[in-house]
Amino acid sequence: MHTPGRAAVPARHLRVDRWWVPRTATLVGLLAFIGYSTWRAFEGANYYAAPYVSPFYSPCLANNCEPMRGGADWGLFGDWWRLSPALIVLIFPLGFRLTCYYYRKAYYRAFWASPPACAVAEPHSSYSGETRFPLILQNIHRYFFYLAIPVASILTYDVALGFRNPAGEWGHMGLGSLVLLVNVTLIWAYTLSCHSCRHLVGGRLRHFSRHPVRYRAWQWVSRLNARHMLLAWLSLASVGIADLYVYLLASGAFTDPRFF
Ligand code: FES
Repeated sequence: MHTPGRAAVPARHLRVDRWWVPRTATLVGLLAFIGYSTWRAFEGANYYAAPYVSPFYSPCLANNCEPMRGGADWGLFGDWWRLSPALIVLIFPLGFRLTCYYYRKAYYRAFWASPPACAVAEPHSSYSGETRFPLILQNIHRYFFYLAIPVASILTYDVALGFRNPAGEWGHMGLGSLVLLVNVTLIWAYTLSCHSCRHLVGGRLRHFSRHPVRYRAWQWVSRLNARHMLLAWLSLASVGIADLYVYLLASGAFTDPRFF
């Protein structure tokens, strides 16, 4: 804005629309999710209501989990100093979302006003982008993408387990089965729409014509990628709703309607 050679425009910006609305909505949405998920992650209880497991607590990597699938999935972390087991596994989806290209844009704008919106100057006097510590660490996003695949696979397994009755017999369905199914579908759609996924599938190819399978996959991922922002929000909402649903069942506030 104040660089030499530019016209000396005294106004901070020349936008006349309500540019602050998306920023405020993003701020409110992210704060709401951060508040809710922090409470649930530290609660360490009410995350299993047979046959449903909250996506915040799966897989269980500590020994101090409720006996969801007969105990811990992998007791890699011992008793985890009696802390909530969600604090281990949430590192992966949290890292994935925190370093996501879309969320970066969202929280840079919403929390740091860097910049607050297109063509609105930021209040900071200098700008180094993501070239220095700590923001240079955003480059590890692709590794979080690799880790997001097994986590989404385990959540898919949880959905399959949700098609049992509370006694563990297969071939049953309740409202919770559908809630978890919608959630995992949105999580897969968000994960596969990732920019790193698109690059992995179709990047570094000189000739698409010589790689018809990868070209087809790239086209498919590209279509999802165009909706990455929408999928980021939908999957964020759905994972919170799925956890809330399990919480309501586990705490006894609600009874799962069973269809068959
Ligand atoms: Fe958003 Fe990879 S860019 S999840």
